[in-house]
Amino acid sequence: MSSGVHRRDAATLASHANKLKGINPVRNPTPKVRAAVIGLGWPGIQHLKGYIADARAEVIAVCDLDKTHAQQVAVQYKIPHTYTNHLEMLDNGDIDAVSVCLPNFLHAPISIDALNAGKHVLCEKPPARSAAEAKAMADTAHQNGKTLMYALVQRFDGSTQRLKHLIQEGELGEVYFGKAGYVRRRGIPIGKEGWFVDKARAGGGALIDIGVHALDCVWWLMNSPKPVEVMGVTYTHFRHLVPDNVRYDVDDATFAQIYFENGATIVLETTWALNLPGDNYIKVAGTKAGASLNPFTLYTEEDGKELDKPIDAPSMNSFDEEVKHFVACIVEGKEPISSAEQGIMLMQMLDGIYESAEKGQSVSITDMSATGK
Ligand SMILES: NC(=O)c1ccc[n+]([C@@H]2O[C@H](COP(=O)([O-])OP(=O)(O)OC[C@H]3O[C@@H](n4cnc5c(N)ncnc54)[C@H](O)[C@@H]3O)[C@@H](O)[C@H]2O)c1
Repeated sequence: MSSGVHRRDAATLASHANKLKGINPVRNPTPKVRAAVIGLGWPGIQHLKGYIADARAEVIAVCDLDKTHAQQVAVQYKIPHTYTNHLEMLDNGDIDAVSVCLPNFLHAPISIDALNAGKHVLCEKPPARSAAEAKAMADTAHQNGKTLMYALVQRFDGSTQRLKHLIQEGELGEVYFGKAGYVRRRGIPIGKEGWFVDKARAGGGALIDIGVHALDCVWWLMNSPKPVEVMGVTYTHFRHLVPDNVRYDVDDATFAQIYFENGATIVLETTWALNLPGDNYIKVAGTKAGASLNPFTLYTEEDGKELDKPIDAPSMNSFDEEVKHFVACIVEGKEPISSAEQGIMLMQMLDGIYESAEKGQSVSITDMSATGK
């Protein structure tokens, strides 16, 4: 894309962006956030539906390398513009915000293209393949004054939101231990052209694909402390479950412990394949009480006796909530809860686990924050 195109669109973008900033959405109905989705696999369609469900947004473009699929999606959801080339799409000065729902190796380069074209970005998990890529994304967002949010969808689940609220209200006291698992007995994704199981394109296996959800969720509940040291082990024992012609050089099981500056610890287990029953849990323990999700229970005491209290939580569509939060951040000029800065720290933990597994010893996590923050 030429810089001339960027200059030509800058005035249009600036004027619409100004309209979107600082408007009281109650007293003054806003111009809608005009969104586009790049990558129309399952998550891309969830983002699309999320924008459609939000009165403050509309989807004006979709983009996928597969032209027939993109056109089908555009017809089904009544989207006016269809693209197969993301740079051409980013030239469309009417687009304010873009969801990047692409294979992991495209998160950084295409988010950076979008941010440099003046778009706000909602990027699918994992933030990137490495902390260095996430840092480049955060720096670009900062330089362009645009919102970069990561689609860490478990934070937007009704039970997670309720537990976060209980922790913020001090119900658990000081939370110093978290335990998270995303364990599949069998369930290795392959993706288009085998990218999920190719380290060069995915950045890793079970850990970066599904472990990231569990780790992010428990870490966020614990108030996102700064990680200082990690110990991890990875295993690759299920190559035979994927076709012979697919490159398979990633972890199908990872187990880790992460230590934080405030003294807290997280224990993580995540597998795409393991000869044990599948499991999906989040547990946090504090000085006053503990809690687990799935089933949502508070572990407390009453009159000196142990008490397990089931907790109710609203049921909501977490993808819709996630997209709604992104749109709200753009309209109201707020920092997303899953910010660019948090994306770097999350990737530092994943990088650290992989490095520790490779070296066979714990590794320390060095500082790396987004510029100017
Ligand atoms: N939040 C969740 O629950 C969840 C679930 C699944 C996947 N994901 C994440 O979403 C991302 C996409 O995963 P997926 O399962 O949809 O992968 P996929 O391989 O099934 O689909 C990716 C889509 O992107 C398109 N694409 C690839 N390169 C493109 C390009 N340069 N320009 C335009 N389109 C392009 C492909 O044609 C395909 O339609 C990954 O990062 C994955 O980790 C998140």
